[in-house]
Amino acid sequence: MIPSTEWQERVADDETARFDKLAATLADLQKKRAERHPMGRALHYKSHGGVLATFAVQGDLPAWAQVGIFGQPGTFPAYVRFSSGSGSRQPDTEPDVRGIAVKLVGVPGEKIIHPDATTQDFLAILSPAVPFATPEEFVGLVSAVSGNKLLALPRLLGLFRLRLGSVLGKLKAGLDTRVDTMAGATYYSALPIRWGDYAVKYSFEPVAGPPGATIDTADGYRDDLQSHLQSRGLTFDLRIQGFVDETKTPIEDSTVEWLAADAPWVTVARLEIPAQTLSADESEGLGAFIASLVFDTWHAPEAFRPLGAMQRARNHAYRDSSITRGAAPEPDGTEPWHA
Ligand code: HEM
Repeated sequence: MIPSTEWQERVADDETARFDKLAATLADLQKKRAERHPMGRALHYKSHGGVLATFAVQGDLPAWAQVGIFGQPGTFPAYVRFSSGSGSRQPDTEPDVRGIAVKLVGVPGEKIIHPDATTQDFLAILSPAVPFATPEEFVGLVSAVSGNKLLALPRLLGLFRLRLGSVLGKLKAGLDTRVDTMAGATYYSALPIRWGDYAVKYSFEPVAGPPGATIDTADGYRDDLQSHLQSRGLTFDLRIQGFVDETKTPIEDSTVEWLAADAPWVTVARLEIPAQTLSADESEGLGAFIASLVFDTWHAPEAFRPLGAMQRARNHAYRDSSITRGAAPEPDGTEPWHA
């Protein structure tokens, strides 16, 4: 099935000012937290491990999927960071968003925000859509739960009004996609990106992923990842599903899951994380190096431009967060880790 090329973005005139403001709100929370804790990302503060990987593009892709590096088989070194979404360091037993961030190195061609960089990033979480209809709702929720807990409910009521019950229900369901192992979970972009003339969402699907384990300690995800990486490594397939029409696969409405029945998944590449020992934390070695990097959906060639208002808001937020924490420049593959 060939996806449609009839997708469209709808960009509001006032977006730049609105999204600048949202990014500043997140950066303010980030600076406030740094008064008492080490400086770090505005969101996805806690890492469960930063690892080396290899990304192999598959050879027999359908013609429509053959875009950029996916135009021919090829192999790229990659950095991967597993994280929890909160802006604070919570025990892993707390419900939270869980994420995977993948950075390929050695990708040719001009990029959107760092034209000369050779990187291309993929970021994904456990849910295929989000309960927030706008970036304001997303940042509003983050702000509401970051401050005085007694004020959280009134703030949320002000933000979502009559939709509050339904949003909280979906949020809870999303967070309750409680995985017992991040090593064998499916991660989704949740938001679309361009794929040449097409628009897609993507996901990382475990291949023969490990069976579950009970995560009942504060750093249980790190321990679980380490236990798998000690012996055999982990494998994920990168899959894409293409835009069909504005009702089934909307570009601007981030609350709608693109169902596989409407937009079937196509496997395009394989991410291999070989057996390795995790750095003890983010204070030294590979762990510290990966902590210093910026994983950003906007690190991509124009042919893979992020689409939709939530993605455009990220273009402001990731920039502010990475500047605030003094993040490292894009790696170029000459780092010692690949030796
Ligand atoms: C709904 C789709 C989204 C997904 C799949 C996603 C995923 C992720 C992941 C996996 C990370 C961790 C990256 C790392 O390990 O370095 C991250 C970080 C971050 N996210 Fe998102 N995110 C989404 C939406 C948003 C939105 C809408 C905003 C704000 C408008 C946002 C703001 C941030 C910020 C500020 C960071 C930290 C950036 C840094 O300092 O490097 N995200 N996100």
